[in-house]
Amino acid sequence: MTKAKTAFRCRECGATAPRWEGRCHACGDWNTLVELAPTATRTAHEPATRPVQLADVPVAAGAARPSGLDELDRVLGGGVVPGSVTLLGGEPGVGKSTLLLQALTLLASTGARCLLVCGEESAAQVRIRAERLHAIVPNLWLVADADVHGVVAHVQELEPDVLAVDSVQTLADVDLPSAPGSVAQVTECTHRLVRLAKERGMATVLVGHVTKEGTLAGPRVLEHAVDTVLSFDGDRHHALRLLRAVKHRFGATGEIGLFEMGEAGLTTVADPAALLLGDRQRGVPGCVVTPVLEGARALLVEVQGLVSRIEGEVKVSPVRSAQGLDPKRLAVILAVLDARAGVNLYGAHVYASAVGGVRVSEPAIDLAVTLALVSTDRKQALPDDLVVCGEVGLAGEVRQVPQIGRRLHEAARLGFKRAVVPASTPDNGNGLELLGVDSVVDAIDVTGLKRGCAH
Ligand code: TYD
Ligand code: MG
Repeated sequence: MTKAKTAFRCRECGATAPRWEGRCHACGDWNTLVELAPTATRTAHEPATRPVQLADVPVAAGAARPSGLDELDRVLGGGVVPGSVTLLGGEPGVGKSTLLLQALTLLASTGARCLLVCGEESAAQVRIRAERLHAIVPNLWLVADADVHGVVAHVQELEPDVLAVDSVQTLADVDLPSAPGSVAQVTECTHRLVRLAKERGMATVLVGHVTKEGTLAGPRVLEHAVDTVLSFDGDRHHALRLLRAVKHRFGATGEIGLFEMGEAGLTTVADPAALLLGDRQRGVPGCVVTPVLEGARALLVEVQGLVSRIEGEVKVSPVRSAQGLDPKRLAVILAVLDARAGVNLYGAHVYASAVGGVRVSEPAIDLAVTLALVSTDRKQALPDDLVVCGEVGLAGEVRQVPQIGRRLHEAARLGFKRAVVPASTPDNGNGLELLGVDSVVDAIDVTGLKRGCAH
């Protein structure tokens, strides 16, 4: 007899513990242990599988099946793999259900039998969405069911090639005591569906909500249970959506897919620059274009700064606003400007943003933010044909960034002529004039901005 030992699991890191503790022994988070459903005790007997030599393992039976949604297939490295389980995560409202329905429609129209289990919306609501997306096709079945046993039964009856569940948080196993949406429920249901997918060689897509903090509502342990984790994000107030593979057992994770949310659902973005730089005003102080990396792709993003000096004695706390940027990096940049370049913005409201609904977390954007702030403070615009790229260190030095060649190549392709870059950047002959700089002070000088205080 093997007795089930594990009784509690950490909702953050997935570590298990035999008894409840206030603090997880593995990740150190407080109050994250939740009780698991009692696992069936099992008597030791014949194992269900036997070891085979590596060379005798059959080559994966199913090749990836293209969904027909190009940007999705690009991220998946070809398409959906039979027997694979994909978790599609994203904040509520970002467009997960829309993406799923569009992909299923395209798959169904190539002859794949698709079953969509909707736990969040009624079948009628899905039909309304489908009409909006012009997605009424044969081979796409719908069922509103929240019971995992029901889902298994529907699969056995319908024998679909592709199963999609929207969302995994709404599923429950009625035999378990815990509430639907609880960690134990979501984990158990996922494991059940993973087994089903493997047994049948059926591709499975599970939608999972993530919270604002970016973790999957419910357990991070889900990410271990599935083959592929896709993350879909974007700013709800903008059209741009980014799809990336956070984990992918069947391919690389570097690719990103770009979509635009419009009246008739998601369309693939062939030219991101038109979307990101389309509304760019020229000759305006405080605006700087910088090449950022999203996965393996370089995107040109406009960074804007606005500095509003508080007149007289500073009685209010100055605003520090970072949109689409890391507020901690902004704080560092303000400190470096003061200490290393003599530009003191502490008595001013400071706003900085990455335009177009992108979120940039990489430090390669530092120098662009820095120059945007100096440019707005000096009321001097930078040249239109200039891009800026570099990380800023605490000593005020400008540091190299990963894959600078790829970034500059994209800038040159889009018609930029000059680039302010770390001094160590090699000229790889893509036609850009490189303005190499060692420090923030250098960068301010080379762009012709006045360094001395204009106030
Ligand atoms: P949805 O796919 O329901 O998001 P999720 O499943 O991630 O919660 O879509 C969310 C938003 O997208 C919704 O606010 C309406 C908008 N939308 C469009 O703008 N165009 C469309 O064609 C569709 C279907 C939705
Ligand atoms: Mg949804």
